[in-house]
Amino acid sequence: MAASLTIRVNDELHEITADPDTPLLYVLINDLALNGPRFGCGLAQCGSCSVLADGVEIRSCVTPVARIAGKSVTTLEGLPARYAKQRGLAQPPTLHPLQQAFVETQAVQCGACYNGMTIKGAELLARNPHPEAGEIREFMDGHICRCGSYPRILKAIQLAATKIAGETP
Ligand code: FES
Ligand code: FES
Repeated sequence: MAASLTIRVNDELHEITADPDTPLLYVLINDLALNGPRFGCGLAQCGSCSVLADGVEIRSCVTPVARIAGKSVTTLEGLPARYAKQRGLAQPPTLHPLQQAFVETQAVQCGACYNGMTIKGAELLARNPHPEAGEIREFMDGHICRCGSYPRILKAIQLAATKIAGETP
């Protein structure tokens, strides 16, 4: 049965009316018109729908919207602002350094995995700004790129780490 719920997404509170079991992904796309998270498998298997909940990646396709009550959700759209807050920057950059690195390395082909790779990679860089290649591979495990762009995605994350290291807050 539909209920009135308040959710925090990209630092804004939203009042929505939805069945509490509705997947968060549907609410993000249909109610909030956010295009970052995508529907891929719908089974928590690919990562296309990933978002951060209190800084930790979750699969929004299998997360009932009621379960994120009281949490702060960040989608791809909110990554630059979240990054600015974490780094104490006066202004959010246009793109999170990892988004910029994806552009510069042309890491993706079809782009279906881009959202999840960026969300998970941003989570990693927030926890560890200097990850080794092996750590990156391990942390990103479970995010599927059907185009097989893994080597370039690895390069993009390494480039983003370099960018972050060279930045003056
Ligand atoms: S669409 Fe959610 S994990 Fe694939
Ligand atoms: S670039 Fe096509 S799925 Fe990764």
